[in-house]
Amino acid sequence: MRIVCIGGGPAGLYFALLMKQLDPANRITVVERNRPYDTFGWGVVFSDATMDNMRQWDRPTADAIEVAFNHWDDIELHFKGRCIRSGGHGFVGIGRKKLLNILQARCEAVGVELVFETEVDDDTAYADADLVIASDGVNSRLRQKYADVFQPDIVTRPNRFIWLGTNKLFDAFNFLFEKTEHGWFQAHVYKFDDQTTTFIIETPEHVWQAHGLDRADLSQSIAFCERLFAQHLDGHALMSNARHLRGSAWLNFQRVRCRQWSHYNGHSHVVLMGDAVHTAHFAIGSGTKLALEDAIELTRLFKQTGNDVKAVLAQYQAVREIDVLRLQNAAWNAMEWFEVVGTRYCDQLPPEQFMYSMLTRSQRISHENLRLRDAAWLEGYERWFAERDGVAVGGGRAPSPMFTPFTLRGLTLANRVVVSPMAMYSAADGLANDFHLVHFGARALGGAGLLYTEMTCVSPDARITPGCAGLWNDEQGAAWQRIVDFVHRRSRAKMGIQLGHAGRKGSTQLGWQQIDEPLAGGNWPLVSASAIAYGPNSQTPRAMTRDDMQRITADFVAATRRAAAAGFDILELHCAHGYLLSSFLSPLTNRRDDDYGGSVANRARWPLEVFSAVRAVWPHDKPISVRLSCHDWFPGGNTADDAVAIAALFKAAGADIIDCSSGQVVAEQKPVYGRMWQTPFADRIRNEAGIATVAVGSIFEADHVNMVIAAGRADLCAVARPHLADPAWTLHEAAKIGFEGIAWPEPYLSGRAQYETNLHRK
Ligand SMILES: Cc1cc2nc3c(=O)[nH]c(=O)nc-3n(C[C@H](O)[C@H](O)[C@H](O)COP(=O)(O)OP(=O)(O)OC[C@H]3O[C@@H](n4cnc5c(N)ncnc54)[C@H](O)[C@@H]3O)c2cc1C
Ligand SMILES: Cc1cc2nc3c(=O)[nH]c(=O)nc-3n(C[C@H](O)[C@H](O)[C@H](O)COP(=O)(O)O)c2cc1C
Repeated sequence: MRIVCIGGGPAGLYFALLMKQLDPANRITVVERNRPYDTFGWGVVFSDATMDNMRQWDRPTADAIEVAFNHWDDIELHFKGRCIRSGGHGFVGIGRKKLLNILQARCEAVGVELVFETEVDDDTAYADADLVIASDGVNSRLRQKYADVFQPDIVTRPNRFIWLGTNKLFDAFNFLFEKTEHGWFQAHVYKFDDQTTTFIIETPEHVWQAHGLDRADLSQSIAFCERLFAQHLDGHALMSNARHLRGSAWLNFQRVRCRQWSHYNGHSHVVLMGDAVHTAHFAIGSGTKLALEDAIELTRLFKQTGNDVKAVLAQYQAVREIDVLRLQNAAWNAMEWFEVVGTRYCDQLPPEQFMYSMLTRSQRISHENLRLRDAAWLEGYERWFAERDGVAVGGGRAPSPMFTPFTLRGLTLANRVVVSPMAMYSAADGLANDFHLVHFGARALGGAGLLYTEMTCVSPDARITPGCAGLWNDEQGAAWQRIVDFVHRRSRAKMGIQLGHAGRKGSTQLGWQQIDEPLAGGNWPLVSASAIAYGPNSQTPRAMTRDDMQRITADFVAATRRAAAAGFDILELHCAHGYLLSSFLSPLTNRRDDDYGGSVANRARWPLEVFSAVRAVWPHDKPISVRLSCHDWFPGGNTADDAVAIAALFKAAGADIIDCSSGQVVAEQKPVYGRMWQTPFADRIRNEAGIATVAVGSIFEADHVNMVIAAGRADLCAVARPHLADPAWTLHEAAKIGFEGIAWPEPYLSGRAQYETNLHRK
């Protein structure tokens, strides 16, 4: 085959050498616009796993890299005068120049033709090539030329960064944070050879501008950075090798993705590789790894499939796309963490927790994974966390964050697990019955710190379905009191009530029938913020009048009084999921032109009136939670920005905690699901609005709860569906992570012993 690689970075060079080795008859040229030793940048890092992969494909390259690289295990944080260090992270660092020189030398040794100082504008100049590899980097001209085929999706990110070097040597991967009068800067610092350290500095665009760095030339920028990080540089200079770059030396990261990875130009197959087809932010340090793995995969496919180029290229994209997407997602999380760190974490989190948050920024490294990396550091952190929350640890091992207590007003929960509110559709005339007693009884004995009732409705016409529980009469109050008494008498769990009104989503079938569809008969009239039906078959609600608001507020107040009398420990106002209060909050369902529609403040006005009326009659020492849909998942709807603003309004009105759900506001929603998918809302609200939060949504392992709580992304975790599958979810998860400090009900103790022994054996 005749192969031309346009661009002699890691992707182009490595692919050229692997393909030449695969078949020495291949005629391969790499065309590079720079001189052999002329490159920007300093060191790059990749993991031990990448090295193992490379060793299998070309041992001499791997050996040469191994001789030249720097290996280190530790990550060190310098933040607010503190230095915190943890180990077990396993990185390899090598100078970019060195890496390219190794690859160039190997290419020459196996007979690849290298052409330097040649700028390529046009792939058709190589019409004799079977394959033209567009390995021409993030600003790929070939990708631009065939943009209608490749369909690139390029997002320019808001932070500015500059890639510098220094001769000050650091013995760990260092993260340095410095505050200025305009905001925070951070540096990612790692040594990559005996004399040199990479020093990447980044900051948000507005901070960069406020310091006049948009007008600074390279030497002024360097002087500024030297002053800012002087205490870490010990008199060493910062250096640039990007003097050839046009424009500012401060760049914005561009996240690149492409719909199509190859194209037949009439003579040759043009194939995107490396940064030309995908980028991964340096916060996770894997752009070079991805480039090298592209080269390996394409070579592997040629080896396996022969020279059926079309089939090979289809598989190349199919296989690589998945790996790349996984890594890009992790890189995206890590990148976002560094973008918001100055406004969301630096001033909010104490250094210990800041370190934990930073280490888990990509969401790929979990609590137990940190234990494997550095048990001593993690145990020290667990001790710090527990002692901060008033646990006397003494000489023993501290409980993990999931099993630390949490206090709001006069309520102290034994742990951070909440049985999330879940409609059971099992009441008649709103009356909780034996089913509810057994349901909550089992879950109280199952170890969770707090149990919520389902959305308990404040009037008969506030119900979602005829099976929903209510609290509009004393008989219902007494039925709940029996359950609350059992929970209090027989367990350490606390009991919360969620109060709500279905609004336009009322008068529908039970959850396991046709959900959200009207009843076959006996429907009752609906009210909502505006007269907009939920689905095509739904009843159109009546837009509420001021009288309706007063009447329903009074219903909430009456239900609150009954909830207090029944002995509930916490009350949650259901302002989520498109029900009545939520229908006011969302601009998609609230089209009012009076004082209760329009701006966020207006849309929140009546929900806040209800909240204040409820707060006024709810015992002062008991907390109130507010459940919000923090994103409507539909254009024009509420987003996380609105949720932060709404949460702040409830905080000002006296709310103690925000339960951060999302969606279900409009039937046409398009949510993006995933593990712990709504936790970012809890994180933002907690750390931007400054109020405690509950995270909920696909939190299904102790490891998830620990990660969320330990990182300060939420204060409690609500777990819904796992509690339907397993009433003793908390006890079982405690056993799985070997936490013994949780009490099982005494009658169940012999079951505990067997369960733990069996787990141990497994
Ligand atoms: C600040 C920063 C830090 C980074 N840190 C890391 C890290 O720690 N670990 C990591 O793995 N990755 C890191 N990367 C990313 C890494 O540098 C890239 O992902 C990697 O180099 C991609 O390799 P590539 O071969 O696809 O592209 P490149 O390395 O960009 O190579 C493309 C080559 O094509 C040449 N070229 C471009 N256009 C033409 C043309 N028209 N004609 C001829 N030649 C052309 C260029 O001169 C260049 O040599 C970092 C990137 C940045 C910006
Ligand atoms: C059967 C069922 C009923 C639910 N009913 C309610 C409810 O009454 N009130 C509420 O706020 N959320 C309700 N939810 C949503 C859950 O509280 C929770 O937010 C959601 O299931 C995501 O958590 P999970 O991934 O742990 O299941 C319900 C969920 C389920 C599965």
